[in-house]
Amino acid sequence: MIQWSVNYSVKNEQLDQEHQTLFAALDKFYEGLKSGEGKQSLVQLMHELIDYAKGHFSNEEAFMKRIEFPGLASHSIEHQSFVKQVNDFLMRYEAGEIPASYEITHFIMDWITRHIKREDMQYAKWYLQRAGRM
Ligand SMILES: [Fe+2]
Ligand SMILES: [Fe+2]
Repeated sequence: MIQWSVNYSVKNEQLDQEHQTLFAALDKFYEGLKSGEGKQSLVQLMHELIDYAKGHFSNEEAFMKRIEFPGLASHSIEHQSFVKQVNDFLMRYEAGEIPASYEITHFIMDWITRHIKREDMQYAKWYLQRAGRM
């Protein structure tokens, strides 16, 4: 569904790797949805995605802190807002209020790809400039 490419590279091997795993987690959910997996299994896949995203966000925030990236605070808010939105979806889905649709998959896909290209790239740029200075 989404393919990681070098266009998404933040010039950090570990964080690039994590982004690829995040894409893979979303793909697993999408495949589950497509093949008509049951609710329990979709809930499980979405939990895995959220947990993985949380771990990635905290690693990324530690990295931004280490390189003294000035945009850390607003970047963290973006992360929190994503977790909140996906958690809200999951809670409502578990409660039977809404179905698991392609909409949530697309929301997550758009969010992740846009976030990497707009926000994550900022710390990558900062890191490269800073490395050049030193
Ligand atoms: Fe980020
Ligand atoms: Fe990221």
